[in-house]
Amino acid sequence: MWGGRFATGPDAIMEEINASIDFDQRLWRQDIRGSLAHAAMLGETGILTKKDVAEISAGLKQVESEIEAGSFTFSRALEDVHMNVESSLKDRIGAAAGRLHTGRSRNDQVATDMKLWVRDTLDALDEQMADLQLALAEKAETHAGSVMPGFTHLQSAQPVTFGHHLLAYVEMLGRDRGRIADARARLNESPLGAAALAGTSFPIDREMTAKALGFDRPTANSLDSVSDRDFVLETLAAASICAMHLSRLAEEIVLWATPQFGFVRLSDAFSTGSSIMPQKRNPDAAELVRGKAGRVFGHLQGMLTMMKGLPLTYSKDMQEDKEGTFDALQTLSLCLAAMAGMVRDMQPDLKVMKKAAGMGYATATDLADWLVRVLKMPFRDAHHVTGRLVGIASERKIGLEKLSLAEMQAVEPQITEAVFGVLGVEQSVKSRLSYGGTAPANVRRQAKRWLKKLAKG
Ligand code: ARG
Repeated sequence: MWGGRFATGPDAIMEEINASIDFDQRLWRQDIRGSLAHAAMLGETGILTKKDVAEISAGLKQVESEIEAGSFTFSRALEDVHMNVESSLKDRIGAAAGRLHTGRSRNDQVATDMKLWVRDTLDALDEQMADLQLALAEKAETHAGSVMPGFTHLQSAQPVTFGHHLLAYVEMLGRDRGRIADARARLNESPLGAAALAGTSFPIDREMTAKALGFDRPTANSLDSVSDRDFVLETLAAASICAMHLSRLAEEIVLWATPQFGFVRLSDAFSTGSSIMPQKRNPDAAELVRGKAGRVFGHLQGMLTMMKGLPLTYSKDMQEDKEGTFDALQTLSLCLAAMAGMVRDMQPDLKVMKKAAGMGYATATDLADWLVRVLKMPFRDAHHVTGRLVGIASERKIGLEKLSLAEMQAVEPQITEAVFGVLGVEQSVKSRLSYGGTAPANVRRQAKRWLKKLAKG
């Protein structure tokens, strides 16, 4: 395709390092779509004859069906997907194939293909994120009133509800989807027609190809068009943050599924056994979601590093944008699917959770708040009194509610019997009615809001 000024072909190692066809063949749909739009535009603008364009379009569609059917042979000697498609077009229609590349370069072509691929993939990931949100929100509605311990520093802090905890992840995924939507909106400008780097002398119509390919408008600067990979970086950054969220949930599932916590039971479908220890039920899917986050982050780092020293405009380094992007987004997709499956199947043990919710003096804040509310104590004093009571209970290895009124009054004489009304975990969560708080009534309302929003799509 470019051999005019060369006397010999490339060294085998040159071919090996140069060829991208092994991985960029994945872009064949986008490549053909872009070429069809470009050809149609060349016809409309009179740059090519209608006859040539008809032949090119028919030929491209044949190539498309052949690749679709799996009978197309990609050749490494032809470097990449763009040249494989064009060469096959030439075999079919002859000379007219050579006119397709008028007013275009592989530099704007690959940027266009990659944008189209990333855009399609973002749309698919958004659907998967919405599905995981749905799985979480449905469980959250069911468990709006199921009490579990809330932690800070992984130490018992205050009782919360399981539904509230699950909805925290629904919020995170909502922001993840927002980042996906932002990335999509920003990438949606067509680089096609920027040509090699400087634009072209042919009277092309970039608005037309942009529109045909579903872009909002053409990119405004040809140099930027062929050297921009922000859309890949932004996508990988958004994917990394989402993978980090999934990893945190995965880590919680790993903890919750241990016999020591015993908060949830994973389904057989999402657990594995041990070949030596018959009692084991391992949360491998959760562990892998946690582990795979590293791959996604790594690809972001790799891509930033690959881009950071490149002078404008295109450099072949940029061919390295593909494998990492494909792998990162495929990995995220798999993690989202596994997480949705695990969440749907996961069975909480409500008794164990509720018991654990009361451990570690989790209602101490409720006691302090009572002293403030009923006895009008300043919060700092209430904190001190409560601390002393916790100290006494802890010495005796009993819960706060097991202290006698006399024991309490020995520390603070004004305490009355009514204090026992706030020491239970159920009362504790029910009282957290502040907006965004864990009260079951709040959680039910929030779960309903999400379910309604998700149903609307
Ligand atoms: N396979 C190349 C890539 O992915 C296509 C662009 C090649 N452009 C060039 N000037 N050699 O980056």
